[in-house]
Amino acid sequence: LYNKIKKRGYLVVGLSANYAPMEFHATVKGEDTIVGADVSVAKKVAHDMGVKLQVKEMDFDALIGAMKTGKIDMIISGMTNTPERAKEVLFSKPYMFEKQAMVIRKSDQDKYKGILDFKGAK
Ligand code: ARG
Repeated sequence: LYNKIKKRGYLVVGLSANYAPMEFHATVKGEDTIVGADVSVAKKVAHDMGVKLQVKEMDFDALIGAMKTGKIDMIISGMTNTPERAKEVLFSKPYMFEKQAMVIRKSDQDKYKGILDFKGAK
């Protein structure tokens, strides 16, 4: 598959762009664009392989089938490794949300209990 991708010159990554901040639609310079952390990951993978990136957007539930039938090379779509999925596909090591967290001052711990407490915060 690697040789096929190299020869073709681009990696085809499937994702479902409705999962901010991982992949979502945003207007960039007046154009509707798919952006997010997963798009950056996909770009990095393609770059490291020395090929271009082609993103194919589809329903989340269609991703595994599309990969099995060769419509896409890889899924990068915030997909959690579950036992059911792992029977069908091969997961990489987790690349996000391992131990990283947002950080605030300990002295503010009564002020901010959840993300909405930051609304209008000074
Ligand atoms: N992490 C969840 C899962 O794997 C939700 C992922 C949804 N991703 C998306 N791009 N819509 O089931």
